[in-house]
Amino acid sequence: MARRPILAANWKMQKTVGEALAFAGSFLPLVKDAAADVVLAPPATALHALGQAIQGSNVALAAQNVSPEPKGAFTGELSTEMLADVGCSYAIVGHSERRTLFGETSAFVAAKAEALLAQNILPIVCCGESLEQREANQTFSYVGGQIRESLARIDKARAAEIVVAYEPIWAIGTGKTATPEMAQEVHAMIRGVLGELFGADGEAIRIQYGGSVKPANVAELMSQTDIDGALVGGASLEPESFSQIVNFGG
Ligand code: PGA
Repeated sequence: MARRPILAANWKMQKTVGEALAFAGSFLPLVKDAAADVVLAPPATALHALGQAIQGSNVALAAQNVSPEPKGAFTGELSTEMLADVGCSYAIVGHSERRTLFGETSAFVAAKAEALLAQNILPIVCCGESLEQREANQTFSYVGGQIRESLARIDKARAAEIVVAYEPIWAIGTGKTATPEMAQEVHAMIRGVLGELFGADGEAIRIQYGGSVKPANVAELMSQTDIDGALVGGASLEPESFSQIVNFGG
């Protein structure tokens, strides 16, 4: 099935408002003819300004995190309504840095994904194994379990709208990319689980690969059957580099 590619930049804790706006100024003209969905996830402080700067363009805004709670005494958190208010159409949830550094569980990620869809913000749900898990041959069981738990609260009728990102932890920020074959093997396993969970709609769900994606390796990764996009950290920080990724290395 033809799935529209989706390339997303995850800037993590990088870029001031001014830097985000300067990026947009250079980047938008470079990707205006992209044959893919293009998404920028700046830090929360830059969401509003960047959202204004990309309004009317073919580039969409994403948050890097969200609270599952609608409002109230949750110091430091942002609700789905607040993200919608500043123009977010996507939000990353369950990134491995949130899971490992901030103790987020798949159950918590599931609540976030459910809350986002209810607000019509599309969740980009991340999963991925550690090096120890890969070496112990636990990749399929661990990642499969993460997917089942993290998507447990997705309404079947809305499943086709979500995005999944497979990011092996050992490949994030390390320069070590999974080979296209290694990535495809896990993506195919994830596709199977999505089929079990959502039937035929599992075929429509886009699965991004993440972990040291760069202009030089994106085309080969994107050529794999079940790789429908990329979630990009380091190589998304410069407009030239991320625009080349959006154009599959071209
Ligand atoms: P990286 O990060 O591209 O710098 O490896 C990817 C991610 O963590 O989303």
